[in-house]
Amino acid sequence: MTVEQMSNEKKLDVICLGAAVVDIPLRPVSRDIFDIESYPVDRIAMSVGGDAMNEATIISRLGFKTGIIACIGDDAAGQFILRSCKKDNIDVEGIKIDPNIDTSMNIGLVTEDGERTFVTNRNGSLWKENIEHVDFEKMKQAKILSLASIFNCPLLDGKTLVEIFKVAEENGMIISADMIKPRLGETLDDIREALSYVDYFFPNYDEACLLTGETEEAKVADKLFECGVKNVIMKIGKRGCYIRNVSGAMIVPACKGVTAIDTIGAGDNFASGFIAALLQGKNIHECAIYANCTAAISVQHVGATTGVKNKEMVDEMLEKYKKDYIL
Ligand SMILES: Nc1ncnc2c1ncn2[C@@H]1O[C@H](COP(=O)(O)OP(=O)(O)OP(=O)(O)O)[C@@H](O)[C@H]1O
Ligand SMILES: [Mg+2]
Repeated sequence: MTVEQMSNEKKLDVICLGAAVVDIPLRPVSRDIFDIESYPVDRIAMSVGGDAMNEATIISRLGFKTGIIACIGDDAAGQFILRSCKKDNIDVEGIKIDPNIDTSMNIGLVTEDGERTFVTNRNGSLWKENIEHVDFEKMKQAKILSLASIFNCPLLDGKTLVEIFKVAEENGMIISADMIKPRLGETLDDIREALSYVDYFFPNYDEACLLTGETEEAKVADKLFECGVKNVIMKIGKRGCYIRNVSGAMIVPACKGVTAIDTIGAGDNFASGFIAALLQGKNIHECAIYANCTAAISVQHVGATTGVKNKEMVDEMLEKYKKDYIL
């Protein structure tokens, strides 16, 4: 069944499951920060972040009914996240407020030349999010489940993902998933069964290498395909993406003439663009192009959700793509 044939009774197009956090970037700081009594920076402000939050924001801006499943604390940072969701028209019924945890806040220290480190709360919501926080009834309301990143919330481990994906599959949902590098030394074997449920998997090349132990692009993608992933969509940075599915393999090149100034969130924007294109009924090649276009806008702006403001921006980039590649 294609996404278009899916029941129109579904209340949501997509549900994004994963982390919703608050980021506080501090820049510029120098390495001798502790030698100075009071350290002035140009700006200190909160912004929302987290894989599920970023994806939900972009997919909603691209015109689709989007919900989010995440947990937050009963605190000011949590309220800030809820307010941001409302502003971007994201359904927040799947956000669980857990009074026993702090909403995760990441303080990013960035030097003048772009070196960065993060101070994070090891007991924050990102580390505590677990299956108890997953509202299955809310999840079932969507056509697509986007597991924003495997390994990001460590308690959503391989076994837990199988439980979640089974429910999604039973309810006819399409399942997509991105990943980050394992935080606790997890391996491919830990998520092999979970991957067998995934229709669209969006690792980047480095992550996919780490997971498979291979380095040659074709072999890396083959190994993930052999786990039962229907479509491996491996991101290869400024080269675009590498697709492997039952029809074979192909590279879909990235947008031309792009000067990347901040690639944080490029992956989230890529997944968002891909999912939006699926919902528009596009084929896999067209979805990959749309994903590249969405990510290309993102990398030209600082911040994960500052670049893509609406669908028109992506459509404009798509027109340029078609001209550049004579499509
Ligand atoms: N220099 C660039 N020019 C054009 N497009 C780019 C450039 N860099 C990245 N992109 C686009 O962004 C997509 C995602 O980039 P990348 O491979 O870095 O993903 P990622 O590592 O998952 O990102 P993230 O750091 O957000 O996790 C690429 O597939 C491509 O479409
Ligand atoms: Mg990524």
